[in-house]
Amino acid sequence: MKGIHFTVIAFTLLAFACSLASAFDPSPLQDFCVAIKDIKNGVFVNGKFCKDPKLAVAEDFFFSGLNMPGNTSNLVGSNVTNVNVDQIPGLNTLGISLVRIDYAPYGLNPPHTHPRGTEILVVVEGTLYVGFVTSNPDNRLFTKILNPGDVFVFPIGLIHFQFNIGKTEAVAFAGLSSQNAGVITIANAVFGSSPPINPDVLTKAFQLDKNVVQYLQSRFWSD
Ligand SMILES: *[C@@H]1O[C@H](CO)[C@@H](O)[C@H](O)[C@H]1NC(C)=O
Ligand SMILES: *[C@@H]1O[C@H](CO)[C@@H](O)[C@H](O)[C@H]1NC(C)=O
Repeated sequence: MKGIHFTVIAFTLLAFACSLASAFDPSPLQDFCVAIKDIKNGVFVNGKFCKDPKLAVAEDFFFSGLNMPGNTSNLVGSNVTNVNVDQIPGLNTLGISLVRIDYAPYGLNPPHTHPRGTEILVVVEGTLYVGFVTSNPDNRLFTKILNPGDVFVFPIGLIHFQFNIGKTEAVAFAGLSSQNAGVITIANAVFGSSPPINPDVLTKAFQLDKNVVQYLQSRFWSD
């Protein structure tokens, strides 16, 4: 009887551990696993193939150009330059990545979430009003005004934003706890999905007039 209980508990714990493990980038089981696109001489790990480690070179761990600002001439006035596993194949399985964010005067990085990563952001130029909102039922808003040298954390999965409240351009860099943290921009996902969500769903969800919903869907459709 004791033995059966132990087995049940062990399996329950194992299942729990596996469900936790699949929710995050796995811990690496080797020094590195440089990503490659084809399976010749490769092993499948976490969505990318690993290059034969003997063939790895310094370039697999290198990126250049983060000194260049992104083009902020768009509707929101911001631009995110990604440096994740797609730019640095050596990041595969390592659970970390980087972005540069440029903001035009009064530019906005609109409310979004990273489904797979916590973000730690440092401002190097300008003044940003930043914030995140906790999950239901509290939906508590945490905000801060950041100046150069200030650092702020956006916990994994929570909706957050950065707004340039200065008359000048702003620049920030951020680290993310995933090789590819993913992005869901709230307005684009809800009003700009492809195909569009039935407007009746959004009319009730947002308590809006159906014309307003259809207007919003037309605004985001082209994004
Ligand atoms: C961000 O900047 C890059 C480099 O200037 C540009 O190629 C890209 O189209 C810009 N993205 C957006 C969304 O404006
Ligand atoms: C930035 O993007 C805008 C709109 O796409 C374009 O007209 C402009 O030439 C770009 N600027 C640079 C410096 O590439």
